[in-house]
Amino acid sequence: MMDWTDRHCRYLHRQLSQHALLYTEMVTSAALVRGGAVHLLAYSQQEHPVALQLGGSDPQELAQAAILGEQAGYREINLNVGCPSDRVQSGCFGAVLMQQPALVARCFGAMQSAVSVPVTVKCRIGVDDQDPEVALPEFLAHIVAAGCERVAIHARKAWLAGLSPKENRDIPPLDYPLVMRMKEYFPNLHISINGGITSLDQAQAFLDAGLDGVMIGRTAYHNPAAILCDADRRIFGAHTATTPQDAVLQMLPYIEAHLSAGGKLGQVTRHMLGLFTGRPGARAWRRILSEGAHKPDAGPELVREALDQILQHDLERHAG
Ligand SMILES: Cc1cc2nc3c(=O)[nH]c(=O)nc-3n(C[C@H](O)[C@H](O)[C@H](O)COP(=O)(O)O)c2cc1C
Repeated sequence: MMDWTDRHCRYLHRQLSQHALLYTEMVTSAALVRGGAVHLLAYSQQEHPVALQLGGSDPQELAQAAILGEQAGYREINLNVGCPSDRVQSGCFGAVLMQQPALVARCFGAMQSAVSVPVTVKCRIGVDDQDPEVALPEFLAHIVAAGCERVAIHARKAWLAGLSPKENRDIPPLDYPLVMRMKEYFPNLHISINGGITSLDQAQAFLDAGLDGVMIGRTAYHNPAAILCDADRRIFGAHTATTPQDAVLQMLPYIEAHLSAGGKLGQVTRHMLGLFTGRPGARAWRRILSEGAHKPDAGPELVREALDQILQHDLERHAG
C-alpha cells in the first residue's frame, strides 16, 4: 500500500507473522527502468516472503522491471490492475487496465517469460460501466491463457470518473459472491479475495468456502496484532503465536541500526502506533510515540518508555 507498506512497516509485520506474504508499495516500471530508481527496491532479507508490486502497461518495460525485482531477491512480482488514482490513470495503468485484458495478458506474458519467480496479478472486479459478471471472467480468461496461476481480486469495482482513490476503497459495493464464483469458472487459478476483511474469522470463512487466499490491507495496517499475531497458528498451521510486546522488543535493534544509518525514529514508529489497539495503555503508547518520535534526539528509549505504559497496565490488571 502506497506510503504505508514500506520496508519498515514490512519488517514490523514480519515480527508478527513468519508466514503471511507481504507486499511492497506499488513501484512503477517507469521509475525503475527509465528513472533508474533502483533504491526503491531496497529491503531487508528478514522481510521474506515479500512480493514486489509493479505498476505499468508497457510489456517490455514491465519485463525489465520484473528482472530488476527478481535480481533484488523478491519472491513474487505482482502486477497492479487495481489502483484507481488519477496519476495512475494518466499513465494508463492500474485499474483502468481492466478495460484492456489483452494488453494485461501481454504484460503478464512478457514479465513471466523474463523471470523465474511467479508473476501474479491484483485486479478489481471491473471499472466504471463494465458489468463485472462479464468483465471479470473475461479478464481472468485472458491472463490465465497467458499462463497466470495466481490472482488477488479486490471485490469491488473502481469508478474512475468522479471518485477519489480513498472513496474507491469504500463506496463501490463489495461483491464477494462474484469472486467466489470465479473459483468455479477457474478451478486451477489460485484466487485470493481482498476488500473489507477485518478479522481472521472472516478470512478463515473464505478459505473454508474454497478460496485459496485472503489479502488484508487496512485492518492489517491499523490493527496489525489482530490480524498477524495469530495468523501463523490459525491460517498456516504453525504452533506458535506472537505478541506485540515481543515484536516491539525485536524492533529495538532494527531501530538502532536505522538510526545509526542516519534514519529517523518516526519513520519506523509511525507504523507501530496501532500495535496495541483496543488494549489498556494503547492511548498512552500512541501519544508517547507520536509526540516524541520527531524530536531530534529521539531513540529506542522512547519506544521502551511507551511499552512500559502497556506493561504497567498489564501488571495492574493481573494484580487486580
Ligand atoms: C493508503 C493505501 C495505499 C494503497 N496502495 C495500494 C497499492 O500500492 N497497490 C495496491 O494494489 N493496492 C493498494 N491499496 C489498496 C489495498 O491494497 C486494498 O486493495 C484495499 O485497501 C482494500 O482492501 P482492505 O479493505 O483490506 O484495505 C492501497 C490502500 C490504501 C489504504
